[in-house]
Amino acid sequence: MDTVIILGIETSCDETAAAIVIDGTQILAHNIASSLSIQNQYGGVVPEVAARHQTEYMIPILKSTFEQAQIKPDDIDAIAVTIGPGLMGPLLVGVETAKTLSYVWQKPLIPINHMIGHIHSAWLDEDAPAPPKFPLLALIASGGHTDLILMNSHTKLTPIGSTRDDAVGEAFDKVARILNLGYPGGPIVEKRADEGNPNAYSFPRPMIDSDDFNFSYSGLKTAVLYKIKEIIELRGELDERLTNDICASFRSAAFEVLVRKSIKAAQTYNVKSVLVTGGVAASRHLKALMQKAVADNLPAEVSLNVPPLKLATDNATYIAGAGYFLFDKLALNPQKDFESILSLEPNPNLTSTEI
Ligand code: KG4
Ligand code: ZN
Repeated sequence: MDTVIILGIETSCDETAAAIVIDGTQILAHNIASSLSIQNQYGGVVPEVAARHQTEYMIPILKSTFEQAQIKPDDIDAIAVTIGPGLMGPLLVGVETAKTLSYVWQKPLIPINHMIGHIHSAWLDEDAPAPPKFPLLALIASGGHTDLILMNSHTKLTPIGSTRDDAVGEAFDKVARILNLGYPGGPIVEKRADEGNPNAYSFPRPMIDSDDFNFSYSGLKTAVLYKIKEIIELRGELDERLTNDICASFRSAAFEVLVRKSIKAAQTYNVKSVLVTGGVAASRHLKALMQKAVADNLPAEVSLNVPPLKLATDNATYIAGAGYFLFDKLALNPQKDFESILSLEPNPNLTSTEI
């Protein structure tokens, strides 16, 4: 069978990303420009500002992606683009670009759910011993999501659980902000936690024994805040050791719930693979905890797939990858489906499993 080459475009938040991927598994080229450092002066992403930068970065990013891949637009078979969830202004930049290119180049357009994209990063991981097997359990842990999804095939996804309030990455970011450690909080809290004692403070493990697969992280964040206030009242300041202990104790609580619920879901649904992705999957500690929990609690043939950081955080490779596996179901052909392409609109509120 011929290979299928797909151009992916991702603009759901602050990134402007493009990638060219072969058969959903092999990355030919990928590029990301981010306006996050500019946005940091506003204390977070401002959709309008992000979108303006995306219109500026889009063409240069596309150009360098084709140069890197050493192919021409005519060599691609389709264009996959993030349709949601995300921020409306930024999403519009990617979707309108993809619609235009689909028309001009006469290539099929594949609208991709960003969350389903994240899951497909696992098929791009060259270092994985094997690709994930169905049925699989996907844990998407990022700054905006904490989702458990059961996947019976590339197109059959069932939501199993999700956070009731804050996402786990958001909790890391908030704890870092309380401790004045900077943004994003995950990597720096992780570094501090590696030096601290995880048993120094006993923080709550919200919903750890609940009968469902949902999460809650806002109470944990508040418990950390109160503990810090208490320490400062008592000692006047938070030194390095105390900060490290707080980070370690917080991380331990946050990850214990993630791991426990993932294992319970994997057992309940008898999955063959457990997949962890999203920015929080960058945590080496989480990967180690998951490895141990999978080995201790699941049958030996169950694989754990944790794509590396460059694939797990927001980028366009997994959008192109998902485009390959969802091509038959979703591709719109400019010759046949021109009206549908024209009327395609981003959906900022798309749920994690909607195709
Ligand atoms: O997927 P992502 O790049 O962006 C979205 O949120 O969509 O995830 C970013 C999140 C941030 O909240 C960041 O603090 C968290 O991932 N993160 C981590 C680590 N590295 C990044 N959380 C825990 N430990 C880490 N090492
Ligand atoms: Zn994302």
